[in-house]
Amino acid sequence: MKRTKIAEILRTEPVNTEILVKGWVKAFRNNQFIALNDGSCAANLQVVLDFENTDPALVERIKFGAAIGARGLLVESQGKGQRVEVKATEIEIFGDCDPEQFPLQPKKQSLEFLREHAHLRFRTNTFAAVFRVRHALAFAIHKFFNDRGFYYLHTPIITASDAEGAGEMFRVTTLPLENMPRTENGDIDFGQDFFKRAANLTVSGQLEGELGALALGDIYTFGPTFRAENSNTTRHLAEFWMIEPEVAFADLTDNMDLAEAMLQYVCQYALEHCADDLKILEERLIEEDKAKPQDQRAPMNLTDKLRFVVENQFQRLTYTEAIDILKNSNPNKKGKFQYPIEGWGADLQSEHERYLVEKHFQKPVILTNYPAAIKAFYMRLDEGCEPGRETVSAMDILFPGIGEIVGGSQREERLSVLTEKMQAMHIPEEELYWYLDTRRFGSCPHAGFGLGFERLVQFVTGMGNIRDVIAFPRYPGSAEF
Ligand code: 4AD
Ligand code: MG
Repeated sequence: MKRTKIAEILRTEPVNTEILVKGWVKAFRNNQFIALNDGSCAANLQVVLDFENTDPALVERIKFGAAIGARGLLVESQGKGQRVEVKATEIEIFGDCDPEQFPLQPKKQSLEFLREHAHLRFRTNTFAAVFRVRHALAFAIHKFFNDRGFYYLHTPIITASDAEGAGEMFRVTTLPLENMPRTENGDIDFGQDFFKRAANLTVSGQLEGELGALALGDIYTFGPTFRAENSNTTRHLAEFWMIEPEVAFADLTDNMDLAEAMLQYVCQYALEHCADDLKILEERLIEEDKAKPQDQRAPMNLTDKLRFVVENQFQRLTYTEAIDILKNSNPNKKGKFQYPIEGWGADLQSEHERYLVEKHFQKPVILTNYPAAIKAFYMRLDEGCEPGRETVSAMDILFPGIGEIVGGSQREERLSVLTEKMQAMHIPEEELYWYLDTRRFGSCPHAGFGLGFERLVQFVTGMGNIRDVIAFPRYPGSAEF
């Protein structure tokens, strides 16, 4: 007999048919009622044991965490709390689970503890919900772009370029670390390396994405990216997934419209398709909030927050306008910012972004037209800037509780402006000849952005630490599993 998944069972009417279910024991009461979960959905299925006619040695092995199969009639439930249940005639144990040894317990365990047992945490209701929602969001992103005629482009994971120019790269090499070959002047001789040049893991697929967009029109990437930044925060990973659309013949406004539509679409998708999992996560947050002082509690429930994002336009303003707001803000006047805002040109810290999003506007914010000096070389120089106040057509989307979730820009399509900028920023033109070729041959205005997938999953699930929304987090000092 083929097994039926619990998600499917719960969608059908109880028709007194015989079924086979397989899963893990979540609870076992009165030697009779098993709560079985198979991961296909948040809900458990109640399996009712025929205690009198079951071998006591087998009953003894039905423990929290054990993998079992149950065969029997699917009937309307006699008890409260569930619509259907299985009257088991046959139980099979696939894998015992010794409660003395099993690190997970049928009670609330801290996220920190579970992070240390990340290989088992999928078995908890919270993490199973997080990873089902993560899946749904990934699917929704592909659907969003596919429905709009974007092509999914696979950009390289190993590359010789540093797209962001931030130098936070993991080197990829097969050279012997204990005895590196050297050139005459003592430098490491990458000519003898696997690729005959220095290579690294990608920090972004954007530059390659632009090559695709300037032929295919609309593309997006969705892949792993790597940053060796020593950030031990709840928002940074050394390995994270990024979605990078790139659109030909688009400007900054088109770019903002696309990003806003995408974020609203995926939040709406989660509301429609992940209701049970969002409920589990919302209840977890409500519990967590009870332990906090009133003023630190979330102003909105998880699902209300998602609805708010879907239903309200994001606030759009320029960097210059934001600086004015921040300069005149109470925390700035009262010296409450760790980095006081003194004037135009300063990079915004997360305390400033949080003030704008969570206090001043209380909604998602799109900041545009940042000073050229604090942004990447490929961003388009704005026309008609005051001398000394050059800005670029950049945009960052800031979300409540998350900070920057999206970073993007219109790209510099004018060859001479681009090369001048690269020279000023000491970016070697020879190495990026292929990128510059798009500007030499059939260049056109284009724009794109990068969405940090884990930050999106954090926002939608309400998980406070980014390490809890990726299965096997990589961060400074940790590459377990
Ligand atoms: O702002 P970033 O660095 O932009 C780029 O990489 C551009 N090439 C994107 C583009 O225009 N195509 O990164 C984009 C987003 C950030 O807004 C943030 O959400 C996420 O990626 N991100 C990280 N997420 C987790 N851990 C990290 N260390 C991250 N660094 C960036
Ligand atoms: Mg950024």
